Amino acid sequence: MVKFIYIEDAKPGQILAQETKRGDGVLLAAAGTEITEKLLQILKGSKIESIAIDEGGRKNILIVDDNMTNLTTGKDMLKDKYKVYPVPSAGLMFDLLEHIIPDMILLDIEMPEMNGYEAIKRLKGEPQWNEIPVIFLTSKTDEGSELEGLSIGAIDYVTKPFSAPLLLKRIENHLFTETQRKQLKEFNTELEAVIREKTAQIFNLQNAVLSTVADLVEFRDDTTGGHVVRTQKYMKILLDKMVEENVYTEEISEWDMDYVLPSAQLHDVGKIGIADAILNKPGKLTHDEFEIMKEHAAIGVAAIKRIEENMKGHAFLRHARRIAGTHHERWDGAGYPEGLVGRDIPLEGRLMAIADVYDALISARPYKKPFSTDYARQIIEGGKGTHFDPLLVDVFSKVAHQFAAVARDV
Ligand SMILES: [Fe+2]
Repeated sequence: MVKFIYIEDAKPGQILAQETKRGDGVLLAAAGTEITEKLLQILKGSKIESIAIDEGGRKNILIVDDNMTNLTTGKDMLKDKYKVYPVPSAGLMFDLLEHIIPDMILLDIEMPEMNGYEAIKRLKGEPQWNEIPVIFLTSKTDEGSELEGLSIGAIDYVTKPFSAPLLLKRIENHLFTETQRKQLKEFNTELEAVIREKTAQIFNLQNAVLSTVADLVEFRDDTTGGHVVRTQKYMKILLDKMVEENVYTEEISEWDMDYVLPSAQLHDVGKIGIADAILNKPGKLTHDEFEIMKEHAAIGVAAIKRIEENMKGHAFLRHARRIAGTHHERWDGAGYPEGLVGRDIPLEGRLMAIADVYDALISARPYKKPFSTDYARQIIEGGKGTHFDPLLVDVFSKVAHQFAAVARDV
């Protein structure tokens, strides 16, 4: 296998002859004094196995052209500012690209075997190469060729014969732009990582604070141990099934699921404003007491609205407010606090209504024993179209066994 070695100060012809005589074929295509016809022929027939590069800190530019004069001219023009790799065919360029990613490729269009158009299409199709800037260097001067060259991904199109200062200036400009683009990309990637980390921190902090608030509410209301955790689980079960069954897909697709479930923790936050004597009364509430108890929905909304004044448009708070305010509404309009009907009740509230009632049914209260999961299921299904959204009750029926598993778990 022939090795392709770049040595800055070598004289290509001489060393080439020595190395090929030894049989391990070292090829030089470098900043030596000239590219001989012999070197070119050997380069064209070679397969690159490995490459040694003298890193001088200069930018690497490949010139790909089947014409020796063009390779020589191009190399001579650029060699003082850049490390130049003259490559006599597109095939060899792809060999070389396995070993080195250049800062730019100057690509001839008319070449045997693979032409410049085919070469750039392949370059643009490979993720490891598609960002290398390519300038076409060509004798094709018609407008159509130039347009085609630029359309398939070249950043510039220079026609031969070209003026050295002009070509150098254009290369310099493109390399500068490319450097800026790379820096911007790196900066954006770093920024995205920082934002992701900060967002996660805020999200975790927010969840921790909210769980604490929910715990405080639950702690006061000592009849409902585990209620907050279970209702969140029921909500998740319903939501997962709704996604699977395409129920209310349009509404759900607008939701940020990371926020909906945690926000459900706050559904009874308004109970903070209800007196202990009512909240923890060891028995059924009187009519008047129940009227006061009902106020927890509006109190919850008011509390969340106060937070929203400082955090406008936050998805978490919006969901939390809807759940807190509407989880006691009924599909038939007989619920509270607003007496909303049907789909006027936000979907979050319609979901929580099922989760909340189911959990109340399977839980013990001072005035009742826990109902069995089967009986709780019958009651929810019996409320289809009256208490609950009929479509959601259908979803519930399909996952009632999962509800029962959650109920048994706690
Ligand atoms: Fe409630």
